[in-house]
Amino acid sequence: MNIMNVDYSTKIPNNVNLSEDRQVLKALEGWHPGYMDWWNDMGPEGFQQSLVYLRTAYSVDPRGWAKFDYVRMPEYRWGILLAPQEENRVIPFGENYGKPAWQEVPGEHRATLRRLIVIQGDTEPASVEQQRHLGKTAPSLYDLRNLFQVNVEEGRHLWAMVYLLQKYFGRDGREEADDLLRRRSGDADSPRMLGAFNEATPDWLSFFMFTYFTDRDGKMQLHSLAQSGFDPLSRTCRFMLTEEAHHMFVGETGISRVVQRTCEAMNQAGIADPADIARVRALGVIDLPTIQKKLNLHYSLSLDLFGSEVSTNAANAFNAGIKGRYRETQIDDDHQLKNATYPVLKLVDGVIRRVDEPALTALNMRLRDDYTQDCVKGLLRWNKIISLAGFNFELALPNVAFHRQIGEFKDVNATPEGALIDDAIWNARKGEWLPSTADGDFIASLMKPVTGTGAYANWISPPKVGIDNKPGDFEYVKIET
Ligand SMILES: [Fe+2]
Ligand SMILES: [Fe+2]
Repeated sequence: MNIMNVDYSTKIPNNVNLSEDRQVLKALEGWHPGYMDWWNDMGPEGFQQSLVYLRTAYSVDPRGWAKFDYVRMPEYRWGILLAPQEENRVIPFGENYGKPAWQEVPGEHRATLRRLIVIQGDTEPASVEQQRHLGKTAPSLYDLRNLFQVNVEEGRHLWAMVYLLQKYFGRDGREEADDLLRRRSGDADSPRMLGAFNEATPDWLSFFMFTYFTDRDGKMQLHSLAQSGFDPLSRTCRFMLTEEAHHMFVGETGISRVVQRTCEAMNQAGIADPADIARVRALGVIDLPTIQKKLNLHYSLSLDLFGSEVSTNAANAFNAGIKGRYRETQIDDDHQLKNATYPVLKLVDGVIRRVDEPALTALNMRLRDDYTQDCVKGLLRWNKIISLAGFNFELALPNVAFHRQIGEFKDVNATPEGALIDDAIWNARKGEWLPSTADGDFIASLMKPVTGTGAYANWISPPKVGIDNKPGDFEYVKIET
């Protein structure tokens, strides 16, 4: 079979020759009904019978892998797709640097690998659960389609992780696969594993912030796992990254369009001061200071996903050859970090300082720094829109000490500028930095569905180009009546 093309003849589309891997095929077919139950219970609310213009992967060739067509979401062909095997691939880092990549799980790393795959797998259905209500308030059919595209692909990413668990981890892998369908985002008794994936995504601005900031954490984690010495994991993550790019595009362009529309409306109304919140809101658009607050929230929640700045778990996973650095193979060093150090932001005598730590234990910090650099690109674009419109206002990433629940700064309060403050000041001022109930209520008041072809809610600009180069009035979702 040609690895590039996906076999659609089996119930579970795949490019891993499932039809000759009876045991795994059986396990996946056994898991399938539970997945469909989960999708029906926890997937997008409503629209399950609507025809949605979705892309489906038909190949893993980066030059042409997707086909667009109208699909009902429950009939989406969720499949198992791995990037092609690189011949003679070697482990690119750690104590096994330069040795052949593993095609099977090495016994001594079994538990660590399983844990990492389960944690990654858990985030995929979690975001679908978080976003399930959003269809009801979509600002356009274009946005509705993008939401559903993200949702079905997160569902596919769950399949990707479940394949690894069922193929390589025997009985306990199958149990973990079942548990991935059992946990629920925000559930008091069995929540999803990571904090940001138990938060609500109450409105579309949150959705765009989530896909920009939290899916981007996913990108960094997938890049690190794509370096893994465990080759099936590496190949799985490499193909997931292809799909993930669209999720972050949805976030970046979504925020761009909100900012664009706000600036336009302010200019039309002759409002020069972006801080004139009441007048801006009266125009039915989201004021820039509130966009900044949403950004503060989602960025800080996403930073927590990187774990503690200094971590022996991260060092062990690197030494073992399981989880590498962002773009490991392009880094010019020994790939073992024997004597290297890395500057880590720490709290020293009540002051935030850079302290050199062994680079091995500082891997989470390094990945988080790479993430921050990646985040900045969007801010430059958004700020350009604001300055071109003639406003003196800049969106900024808050300091890493701001609003943290995990790591060095979890026990202190800091302003977005990084000044340490006491509880009293924090409580008095946090409403200036994080969305308040009133902010949430205002945004919620704008969330009215717009379902006409080519029509957009007042608070967001139309996109510059359509999906799959479709014209502006394309019917991205045929809503059933
Ligand atoms: Fe994903
Ligand atoms: Fe994603």
